[in-house]
Amino acid sequence: MTYIIAGATGTTGKAIAKELSKTETVHFIGRDELQLKQLSEELNATYSLIDLDNPVDTKEFQKTVEHEEIKGLINCIGSIHLKPLHGSTIQDFRDVININLFSSYYLLSSFARKMTNGSAIFFSSVAATKGLSNHELISAAKSGIEGMARSAAASYAKDNLRVNVIAPSIMDSNMSQKILSSEAAVELSKSMHPISKIGDTSDIIPVVKWLLSDDSKWITGQTIHVDGGFSTVKPR
Ligand SMILES: NC(=O)c1ccc[n+]([C@@H]2O[C@H](COP(=O)([O-])OP(=O)(O)OC[C@H]3O[C@@H](n4cnc5c(N)ncnc54)[C@H](OP(=O)(O)O)[C@@H]3O)[C@@H](O)[C@H]2O)c1
Repeated sequence: MTYIIAGATGTTGKAIAKELSKTETVHFIGRDELQLKQLSEELNATYSLIDLDNPVDTKEFQKTVEHEEIKGLINCIGSIHLKPLHGSTIQDFRDVININLFSSYYLLSSFARKMTNGSAIFFSSVAATKGLSNHELISAAKSGIEGMARSAAASYAKDNLRVNVIAPSIMDSNMSQKILSSEAAVELSKSMHPISKIGDTSDIIPVVKWLLSDDSKWITGQTIHVDGGFSTVKPR
């Protein structure tokens, strides 16, 4: 049985890859062959390349993972885009949808039929639940992921394939480096969260491990908000 981690060379993907590879067989998916090869050698994994701009057919892509039984699929591929609609181009919209929503569709449709008794995990964002200014594009893509996951949870329940989503708020990662580039920006971001801190992979990994495990065997079609309460909590 194997676990697929897509976006394995990113901050969250790499942290999950390091954790799961301690005990499980892992397969990585990414776009940067040099980095993927290095990480796979380090963690004794196999890997395949993904091209979201010129994707091969899902049946072809499925063959890039040789393992017959896939126990877990975690898609950490994603992007951020903080501009209002009028400041964004058509290409920006297409890119955000492609990287976030299309990648999730593509990976699940490639591997779902090999995932009986498995668990698929996708990443949304607090911006899908809370209306945040300048987040229209990413909110559209991540809301799509949440909706698709609920429907897929229904479609594949008969195979006991569970499909869930983790929706973080801002986390310390490659993606957020620019946003958190000054001490003032970090303090402002912290102060927006009822539990005042920036997220990091230590907030995400326990949730990923739980969603992959039998401890969550009756959980499917859910979005788990890992956001210090930002999406739904208003302290006095
Ligand atoms: N960080 C945050 O504040 C935050 C907040 C809410 C939600 N999220 C979500 O959490 C997930 C993990 O993100 P992260 O924080 O770990 O960010 P990250 O370190 O930037 O990781 C993003 C991953 O996406 C991959 N990627 C981006 N564009 C791609 C493309 N065109 N084709 C293939 N792969 C592509 C990157 O590949 P390379 O390694 O080759 O660059 C990287 O592996 C994402 O879905 C993100 O949207 C993050």
